Amino acid sequence: MRRSYHCGALTRKNMGEVVRLIGWIQSIRDHGGLIFVDLRDRKGITQIVFDPKNDVYSTLLPVLKDESVIEISGMVNLRPNDTANPHIATGEIEIVADMLKIHNIAETLPFPLEDSKADKVSEDLRLTYRYLDLRRPKNLHALCTRHRIAHTVRNYLDQQDFIEVELPYLFKTTPEGAREFLVPSRQNPGSFYALSQSPQQYKQMLMVSGVERYYSLARCFRDEDLRADRQQEFTQIDLEMSFIDCEDIYKLIEGMMRIVFKETLNRAIEIPFIRLPFQEAMDRFGSDKPDTRFALELVDLSPIFRHSAFKVFRDCLEKGGSIKAINIRQLADITQGELKNLEDVARALGAKGLAFIKAEKGEWKSPILKFLSEQERDALRKTLSIEDGDIVFFAASDWLQACTILGRIRLECAHLLVDRGRLTIPKDQFNFLWVIDFPLITFDTEQGCYVATHHPFTAPVEGDEERLKTDPLSVRAQHYDIVLNGFEIGGGSIRIHNSALQSLVMRDILKLDEQTILDRFGYMLRAFKFGAPPHGGIAVGLDRLAAIICGSDSIRDVIAFPKTQKGQDLMAQSPSHASEKQLRELHIATIMPPGK
Ligand code: AMO
Ligand code: AMP
Repeated sequence: MRRSYHCGALTRKNMGEVVRLIGWIQSIRDHGGLIFVDLRDRKGITQIVFDPKNDVYSTLLPVLKDESVIEISGMVNLRPNDTANPHIATGEIEIVADMLKIHNIAETLPFPLEDSKADKVSEDLRLTYRYLDLRRPKNLHALCTRHRIAHTVRNYLDQQDFIEVELPYLFKTTPEGAREFLVPSRQNPGSFYALSQSPQQYKQMLMVSGVERYYSLARCFRDEDLRADRQQEFTQIDLEMSFIDCEDIYKLIEGMMRIVFKETLNRAIEIPFIRLPFQEAMDRFGSDKPDTRFALELVDLSPIFRHSAFKVFRDCLEKGGSIKAINIRQLADITQGELKNLEDVARALGAKGLAFIKAEKGEWKSPILKFLSEQERDALRKTLSIEDGDIVFFAASDWLQACTILGRIRLECAHLLVDRGRLTIPKDQFNFLWVIDFPLITFDTEQGCYVATHHPFTAPVEGDEERLKTDPLSVRAQHYDIVLNGFEIGGGSIRIHNSALQSLVMRDILKLDEQTILDRFGYMLRAFKFGAPPHGGIAVGLDRLAAIICGSDSIRDVIAFPKTQKGQDLMAQSPSHASEKQLRELHIATIMPPGK
């Protein structure tokens, strides 16, 4: 009986054993006297040796292309000493084949699968042949890591007495969140489901049901413009608990991250995580998801320019705005092109300009220097400790915008410094933090009304709710975001569980009309009148977490079949057209495909 093994299993201990292996041809090398095949599967690579004197081998093997699937059997032999490969587990042995069976002959591949070459191929081509792309060990490894995270999380939450409950994907439309995917209902002409953006409302209903501790690995659907950290379909580690406060969530999630990092990377991460109030995060880093792996902090210069001769700054302060600045050390050699890019970035965020001062060869160079008094220059030098080689950027705007602009400039400049070899941002350093004390309500200048900073179910900080009607912008939320290396990997809150307070927020603050409240949230408000427990929860983005753990820049790397920037699956060719019959059944007027 020939035992089957996977391609990473055999070592010198198996010497003399006759074995059977099946896998993909990684490479074929014909050395004249012998033909060597590296056979690969998910677990590793084994060297197979074929004797070309055997007619079957000498005729069949040369026609086989890489990535064909073959089965072999043969005896495990020690490799001659000087040919051993210490870098792989099976490096000391090889198998002398006595049988070859061909299962599937591969055609010429559309792109080479070696990492060094495949990484240079366009992502579109790789995604069209994603099943080949996934054969690359690092991509398979990403899927395995994702599995390991999910498995660890499930075990951990089970131990913490959570139960996994599957919640509906076909939900109803709640247009105030992200744009939704609508699904027409065949049975209810003219009515639509929306694919769930998150199980938020259902999980809150589970708390009213007495489930107490719920979790699921929930698929979420949002019709958003895609970026490196955003997909239209993504997965949340979603959970909700009754009878808890923020501290319970912090402890639970810190414990979860600790075990996930131990199980995936064998890394001990430090807990508890630091906590940054939103205001401080914006003030220091210009972001509510600061990357603290490098310094470069913003400073407030408003007191220095209150009576400035520079009209731009003085006017801004008179209107209640702020002057913020950031000193980027060792970037005075920034090129004109790079400077122009930074200006474009700032303008896209609403900046009117991006004033700067360069300190070079003992001199300051700046388009605004002529407006600055000696006193102001002194104050700048001291406050920002400007040294030769530095460049300082300024933003004059309302506080939030000024911080946001320089927050982006900070990140862009960090990358310029990395490119110049003057800064390292280690991928294997994990800076976790909680951002807390978000404002409950934000004023949306585009819509000209108050909106919930996160979602309308978030509870105000106890005591702050008294100011809901008088000074809503000052009310803090019991909301928390978990941030890792500059990415928001999760967010959640303690919820409102009182019908009257929930109605007040929706009606009096968010100014939703009675009918809208009734249509969208009527069932929730009703449920909160039948014994609703205090509750709260969080959702952690599994894709983002997995990408960071795998050291990937894009969540596409840790998703088996991701969509492109345009929301397409290039492999399966979706989205695609529906037939007239399908559309008729859904009571949808025929939409002509483009070009017809
Ligand atoms: P939120 O909308 O902040 O909260 O989402 C929680 C986390 O999900 C991840 N995430 C995404 N990941 C990939 N692609 C996307 N398009 C995307 N959008 C969000 C992020 C984010 O931190 N129901 C609330 C949670 C709660 O209050 O319990 C919610 O969905 O990592
Ligand atoms: P100006 O006098 O308008 O030409 O502006 C002088 C400098 O200030 C230019 O470098 C502008 O880019 C910059 N600037 C103008 N408005 C702002 C602003 N709101 N914040 C920061 N810099 C600005």
